[in-house]
Amino acid sequence: MNDNLLDQIPSPCFVLEEVKLRKNLAAIRHIMDQAGVEFIVAFKGYAMWSTFPILREYINTSTASSLHEARLCFEEMKNKAHTYAPIYAPEEIDEILSYSSHITFNSMNQLKAYAQKAQDAKVSVGIRVNPEYAEIETDLYNPASPNSRLGIRKENLPAQLPDVVKGLHFHALCENDSYTTEKVTHAFEERFGQYFSQLEWVNFGGGHLVTKEGYQKEHLIAVLKKFRAKYPHLKVYLEPGSAFGWQTGFLKSTVLDIVENGSASTAMMNISFTAHMPDCLEMPYRPEIRNAHENNEAPYHYRIGGGSCLAGDFMESYGFDAPLNIGDHLIFEDMIHYTMVKTTTFNGVQHPSIGIIDQEGKFRLVRKFGFEDYKNRLS
Ligand SMILES: Cc1ncc(COP(=O)(O)O)c(C=O)c1O
Repeated sequence: MNDNLLDQIPSPCFVLEEVKLRKNLAAIRHIMDQAGVEFIVAFKGYAMWSTFPILREYINTSTASSLHEARLCFEEMKNKAHTYAPIYAPEEIDEILSYSSHITFNSMNQLKAYAQKAQDAKVSVGIRVNPEYAEIETDLYNPASPNSRLGIRKENLPAQLPDVVKGLHFHALCENDSYTTEKVTHAFEERFGQYFSQLEWVNFGGGHLVTKEGYQKEHLIAVLKKFRAKYPHLKVYLEPGSAFGWQTGFLKSTVLDIVENGSASTAMMNISFTAHMPDCLEMPYRPEIRNAHENNEAPYHYRIGGGSCLAGDFMESYGFDAPLNIGDHLIFEDMIHYTMVKTTTFNGVQHPSIGIIDQEGKFRLVRKFGFEDYKNRLS
């Protein structure tokens, strides 16, 4: 990307690159066509709705985890959602059903409470089960542990499922490869295969990072085809979020000050890790910064400081080839998935704008945020 284009982008700003998004979508479409399955996008990971017209050229709909996500799907994906929420509130269920084609319940209690309503609304009913197999190092992201509140364990299911249940859903992956999908699919089949004959669909959840470089797409296609050949009556859905937004853009930011304290030089930025890139602190992971290196690989070292008052709102130091100066821009790579959907206005910090670099290489500002956005979340 040339400097001229970068100069046109305000700071701070999340910037999606359409060419990269289309590359991911084409890869996803290829798997769908080859394997005969349907991918839907998980809004919890990617919900940049100004790009939904592009998404709709490749996929039909989304999975929603709340009333608001279901409504966004209906209004902006122009289709009904596959909804799964860990809990549905009585005052929301009717509206949720009005935006949903499929609804998955997290417990037998919730199924009992709302299955009739779903059936009356002609929404296909499923339940989420726990396959009790996962390859996830961080507990925060592991929904398949034996005590997990997400999904019903085999031992808590009746021998015969109520007739109303037409689908089973599991979600047990997080940035995993096709070999983990294969293993979790076996675990799912082993535990819950006895119920398959009464079903119409299964949902293999998210966490399939099919757009990561090196992902064995052909292996995934083979795994899915094998499953489909064995159970031809079942429609198979996958609902990743990350895979859609993976490596499709960046967050532009600016150095506003450099503070020297103790042995640390900290570049104080006009963004915040806790407010704008919370997974860096939660997961945690170290974001890639364009042209920055690890400390031992470059002579000038700076911690990168967020603009909130949270003491831990910083990243340990990065190495740079030249000293940083006030006014320099830092580009945080791969900042599209699980960023915009998780931002807050903590401390009232300025929310980054949102923009797109289109296929012709032109920048378009989509949204700017201001005081009203902050104020409207409070009262
Ligand atoms: C039920 C469910 N489906 C799909 C996803 C999307 O997962 P990912 O963004 O890792 O593909 C999640 C993520 O937490 C989830 O909980």
